Parts: sequence; structure tokens; C-alpha cells
Amino acid sequence: MVSQKIGPLKPEYTQEKKGRVNMPLVPMKAILDATEKYNYAQGAFNVNAVCQAKAVIEVHEMFRSAAILQGADLANAFMGGRTDFAQGTLEDKKKGALNIANAVKKYAEHSPIPVALHLDHGKNMESCVAAIAGGYTSVMIDGSSLPFDENVELTREVVKYAHERGDTVEGELGVLAGVDDHVFAANSTYTNPMDAVKFFRQTGVDALAISYGTKHGANKGKDTVIRKEIAIATKECMMHEGIEGTLVSHGSSTVPQYIVQEINTLGGDIHDAYGIKKEQLKEVSKLGIRKINVDTDIRLAVTRNLRELFRDNAALRDSASIGGIYKLLLDNPSAFDPRVFLPPIMDTVMYGNVPDKDVARVVDCIERGVKEVVGTLIVEFDSVGKALLIENVSLDEMAERYRKKGI
Ligand code: G3H
Ligand code: 13P
Ligand code: ZN
Repeated sequence: MVSQKIGPLKPEYTQEKKGRVNMPLVPMKAILDATEKYNYAQGAFNVNAVCQAKAVIEVHEMFRSAAILQGADLANAFMGGRTDFAQGTLEDKKKGALNIANAVKKYAEHSPIPVALHLDHGKNMESCVAAIAGGYTSVMIDGSSLPFDENVELTREVVKYAHERGDTVEGELGVLAGVDDHVFAANSTYTNPMDAVKFFRQTGVDALAISYGTKHGANKGKDTVIRKEIAIATKECMMHEGIEGTLVSHGSSTVPQYIVQEINTLGGDIHDAYGIKKEQLKEVSKLGIRKINVDTDIRLAVTRNLRELFRDNAALRDSASIGGIYKLLLDNPSAFDPRVFLPPIMDTVMYGNVPDKDVARVVDCIERGVKEVVGTLIVEFDSVGKALLIENVSLDEMAERYRKKGI
């Protein structure tokens, strides 16, 4: 277990099952099924370093919530050692997937909560295979930029491969706008509810990311309003057609204004940064959106903490191990992706090693940043205390269920 023990372990989590003691990770579907049954949403939080994964698990333990951690395709390249992660190769991604999965398994093994590890925005079949080989229990295949039929074909291929191994699959239909890298488009195309039903039926995916007004990154627009009627209509159509599946909200960071202001006071230069209102996310969480993806909020909180660390501790600016981070913060005032600042401590990013007390200060900044924003959202999304409701099902059992259902 990561943190101090916070209570007795749930009996199932101490039992030996199919040769595994304390099954380390659950398929994401086990967590998603509970959200449908008990009417709440589960945040899914992106990680780019081992200590972020540790903090995400610890804060979920505090709130007795199950945890979904996600590593994006490029995050895997970074955790595989590519500081120029956008150029990461499949080999880098394989290595990173293994690094993060090993860490997550270690932390989850004695944890009182169920933990799933999910590949976010998998680009192609190879990325999904690499994540599963590394130990991920769920993958997203993002075929949203493809024509419908090609998206179906690619997603089906991933579903076949993943379900045979008990892994969960998320697809995407409709295009989210976003300012990030190549994954994201300049304009959005909202998801058509009828197409969503067709997509679930034709692919067998467990979960589907819909486009309904959210947007990746920190510049979502000042008064963005989620088109909740798209979620409602999609869910209705699914019910009429007897389709089970989870709807996912990407681009859902709330971009806390106090954090943006603090960053700018600390030498940062971030403009037009607005997120989705917490009230709207709360509302859709009760209307059929069950998985809510958040990355940007974590990035912002970690950046604020790093800037604060160097403001308050001038001696650290010349530290042999972390002085380079200070320089990168100075050189990149408008950046808020910690991957821009962390290259000087890649051994810590990739393996969680903490060689000296200066690096320990940086790790502390990262962990506190994660806990501040993730803790808030666990409460908002109402997953507090729900860990006990998750079925303890293994990948093997899940694979058998898919086989019996023919999906
Ligand atoms: O929605 C995706 C995440 O924010 C991942 O970002 O592709 O830069 O790792 P990334
Ligand atoms: P944000 O950029 O709003 O945090 O979205 C993250 C996301 O959708 C990850 O898949
Ligand atoms: Zn996303």
C-alpha cells in the first residue's frame, strides 16, 4: 500500500484468486459498471510520472474511491525516457507503459481500493498492444479522426485483441476541439446519438468518448456550456436499443482560476485559460456521463507548486539535481505541462527514484498538486466511498465473460 494504512482491507482484496494474491489491477469495466449501477461518475486522471501515479492512488485511498489512472500515448513515450515525447517511437511507448504499469501495480497491490490503468488516446493498434503488454487493464483507441467505417474497423480490431485478454476498451466518436498536439483537432464535431448506438453495436466497445462541447487543454472558452442534451439523447437511444456501455467526457478539466492566477503571479504567463464548470460536470454525471477525464488541472497545480518552490527557496535554484528545472520554468513562462520542466529528473519520472533531498522537494510539489485537484474532483463526481461497490473481477474472468457473450 502506498500511504499509511487507512483501515481494514476489503475481504475480496485479501483473497487468493486464480493464483494471484491481492490482484493488483482491475479491468476498468469493473469500475465503470458500478458507476452505472449506483449513479455517479468516476474521474480518470492522467499521469506522466511515477510519483503522480502514487499520489493519484493515495488520494483515492483517502476518499475510499476506486481509481482510474491513465497514461496517454505520448505520456508513455515520456515515461519511456523520451523528453521529446512527441517524437516517441513504439519502443519508447512500450518501455514507458511497462515502467508506469509496474509502479501502479506495486502501489495498488496492497491498496484497499480497486485500481485500473487505462491507455488514453491510443493512436493505433500497436500502441494498444504495447500498453496491454506492459500491464494496462484498459485501452482507448482514438479513431475519431477517421471516417465512421474506418473508425469501426480499427476499434473492432482492438476490441477483439483486448477482450480476449479481459481488458476494457474505450472508443471515440465525434471530434473534440483542442489546442494540444497532433491528436487534437481545431474544430469540434458533436457526436450524433444514433451513430453512437451504431458504433457500440458494431464494435463491442465498453465505453465511448463523445464530443458534446468539452475541449482539451486550458483554453476551453470563458463560458463553455456542455451540450448535455447530446449525452441524454445518446443514453436514451442506448436504452431503447438495449445497449450497455459507458459514456465518457474528455477535455473536462475545470481550470481552477485561483491556480491560473497564482501561476501568473509566480512568473508564469498563461492567458485565456478557462475550463468546464464543476456544476456542469456534476450535472452530466447524473445524466449518463460516467467517466470524466482530467489532465490539465493536474498540470496546472503541479506547475504552480514548482514555481512556488523556487520562489520560496532561492538556494534550490542552483541545486545540482534540480536547478535545471528552475531554468526551464524561467525559459518557458507560458508552459504548464510538467513534462517541459522535468527532464532533469528522468530517473524519478520513470522509476520513482529519489536520489537526494532536493529531488524529494520536487516530488512533494508534484504529489501535492495531484492531490489538491484530484481530491476536489473525487468529491464533485461523487465517487467518495464507492470503492466497496466495485466487483473484484480478474482479467481472466472478464475475458471469459466477453467470450461467452461473443464480444
Ligand atoms: O487528452 C489527453 C491528455 O491531455 C494527454 O495529453 O497527449 O500530451 O500526453 P498528451
Ligand atoms: P483536459 O485537457 O481537459 O484535462 O482533458 C484531458 C483528457 O481528455 C484526457 O483524455
Ligand atoms: Zn482526451
